[in-house]
Amino acid sequence: MSARVLDGNWASSQVKMGLRERIQALKTRGVTVGLATVLVGDDPPSARYVAMKHADCAELGIDSFDYRLGADVTMAELLATISELNDDDRVHSYLVQLPLPAHIDQEMVLSAVTPAKDVDGLHPYNLGLLTLGEPKVVACTPAGIVELLNLHGVDLPGKHVVIVGRGVTIGRPLALLLALNRPGLNAAVTVVHSRVPSLVDHTREADVIIAAAGSPGIITADMVRKDAVVVGAGTTFAGRTLLSDVDDSVAEVASWVTPRLGGVGPMTRAMLLSNAVSAAEASLA
Ligand code: GUN
Repeated sequence: MSARVLDGNWASSQVKMGLRERIQALKTRGVTVGLATVLVGDDPPSARYVAMKHADCAELGIDSFDYRLGADVTMAELLATISELNDDDRVHSYLVQLPLPAHIDQEMVLSAVTPAKDVDGLHPYNLGLLTLGEPKVVACTPAGIVELLNLHGVDLPGKHVVIVGRGVTIGRPLALLLALNRPGLNAAVTVVHSRVPSLVDHTREADVIIAAAGSPGIITADMVRKDAVVVGAGTTFAGRTLLSDVDDSVAEVASWVTPRLGGVGPMTRAMLLSNAVSAAEASLA
């Protein structure tokens, strides 16, 4: 193994340090940050993610509210919960955990969250602001990936970043984030669908590969140029075991690589907390 590790646990502790000060400043103004989650059904990985989000809130002194609905919830019942959260002054922001059961219209649900409380940055209005280059809130995993690279001193300007996967939670908003007119982000960005037959031709051209396909081991050592940076963002569960999009062999050729555990995941959670703090600050403005 030659690659250095992109350590999400360390990087998230750096982010949390800054957040603690902001949370304290809000407390002195009489505001306790409030974050809610809505979990529909009993998908075990989703339940574990939600539990971790509440543990993070407890660690930082954020009030968290845990809404749980059965897998057979109707659209009307779910929209009623969303409406309740939109009106609840204790809750500065919240998320509806994805994926949702097949009978639920995900677009309608994401659109029903009032944009100012959209901690995920997945409301069409917030995605629209990101497209326009003036985001108020950025989706947590893309924001976490950029911060993870930044905190490890991995420069992006001038680099060719290849994103594998174009899903709404990672690949697509990440491409928009990397296209922002901001110092530190001036990269050439390619988005490739994971089933493009010549995937390897694209990844071999990359200085930075970000795998967001949710396809375990899709990025193997032979697809990576020597000393490229490789970030595994897509996740799949086999029972309780978390599988990465990045095969272990990649560490032999990459200069930096995320570990199977403790890479992007902790950064997603840190950015969720950051968006929650920003939402509480914005409520005072
Ligand atoms: N499930 C997997 N990723 C995400 C995310 O970013 N937000 C929500 N709400 N659910 C998810």
